[in-house]
Amino acid sequence: MADVQELMYHVVEPAAQTYWKSVGWVLDADGEHYIHPTSEEEWIAVENAAFMVAESGNLLLMGDRALDDDGWVAMSQSLVDIGERALRAAEAMDEQAVFDLGAEMYFVCSNCHARYSPEILRPNDDRSVPVDEGADDEGS
Ligand code: HEC
Repeated sequence: MADVQELMYHVVEPAAQTYWKSVGWVLDADGEHYIHPTSEEEWIAVENAAFMVAESGNLLLMGDRALDDDGWVAMSQSLVDIGERALRAAEAMDEQAVFDLGAEMYFVCSNCHARYSPEILRPNDDRSVPVDEGADDEGS
């Protein structure tokens, strides 16, 4: 039922953000803190997010969502692949792998946007940026 933009906004982006924010370093007034899932429940949330990213790749190929029949198909398949690898890392509760695959996931997103939606890659557009802690809420 969703078009590509809605699918990105309501499914892909929240899932990717959950994944990206699950392991890493955040900076606040007290300095830098390492964050990682600490309970079964939190790890399941990371798995769920990876599942959503993976299945979104399939959804991008369904109906009339594909914007062409070559690059789009390959890049959607890459989203399935990275989502699956991200899922395996979460299942293994491998924090380093979750962190590394999060970075790879970001490149899969950006590659497709560079080709099909370059306007969202502008440096001060905060859509689709991993870890938005402390991002530009100040000013005006
Ligand atoms: C197969 C291509 C493709 C992949 C892979 C992809 N995107 Fe997108 N994305 C698009 C296109 C095309 C648009 C522009 C949709 C439009 O505005 O019609 C978009 C738009 C977006 C938007 C803006 C939505 C809005 O409200 O305007 C966000 C956020 C986004 N993508 C996040 C992601 C994230 C996060 C990933 C990776 C986990 C990702 N995308 C992977 C093609 C892709």
